Amino acid sequence: MNGFVPYPVRDTFRLIEPGPTVLISTSDGTRDNLMTNAFNMPVRHDGILAVVVGTWDASFATLQASRQCVIGIPGPELMRTTVQVGNCSGDDLDKWEHFGLTRVPGVNVAAPLIGECMANIECKVEDDSLVEEYSLWLLRTTAAWVRPDADLTAEFHHRGNGTFSTNGELHDLREQMTKWKYFSN
Ligand SMILES: Cc1cc2nc3c(=O)[nH]c(=O)nc-3n(C[C@H](O)[C@H](O)[C@H](O)COP(=O)(O)O)c2cc1C
Repeated sequence: MNGFVPYPVRDTFRLIEPGPTVLISTSDGTRDNLMTNAFNMPVRHDGILAVVVGTWDASFATLQASRQCVIGIPGPELMRTTVQVGNCSGDDLDKWEHFGLTRVPGVNVAAPLIGECMANIECKVEDDSLVEEYSLWLLRTTAAWVRPDADLTAEFHHRGNGTFSTNGELHDLREQMTKWKYFSN
């Protein structure tokens, strides 16, 4: 599918657990939007994820109305674009056109996958009971996609003050994960 291959829903926690800076794609059916998100986490091993999307984002209203989104995981070549996507509002411009990003149709949601990302996770809102107090959306993965040639360890991380880090050496401690063998293959 436009260069993406399916990725197991039960493994999507592995895409989010390292703490990537992500792009969130939403659509109201006529207008597609993008925002940058760094407050995200896996919640359960069956594809439940959580993201903070606040009322200060135009994406909030779209997520609230559509109850679905796509989480795209960019590689380091998209670092500057990712910051710039987070500096402007979809109310003022079409970020897809402005940043030259490619819409790829998903299978379960109207929001497009982001063609330039390493991975894309299609999500539906599972629980919004923490949104009012914490802007925290619990999402259920309905499908996930990766580029077969992508280095999925190449996500980048926002360090909270406008500085970003990429990954250095990978430390393989799988043989020590004795209680958690299931998650160590
Ligand atoms: C590095 C970075 C991380 C961000 N993380 C979040 C986040 O976790 N949650 C959030 O609501 N906004 C976050 N933002 C801000 C939104 O991306 C920003 O408000 C954006 O303009 C929203 O776009 P929209 O108004 O078109 O939805 C972040 C911005 C940057 C640059």
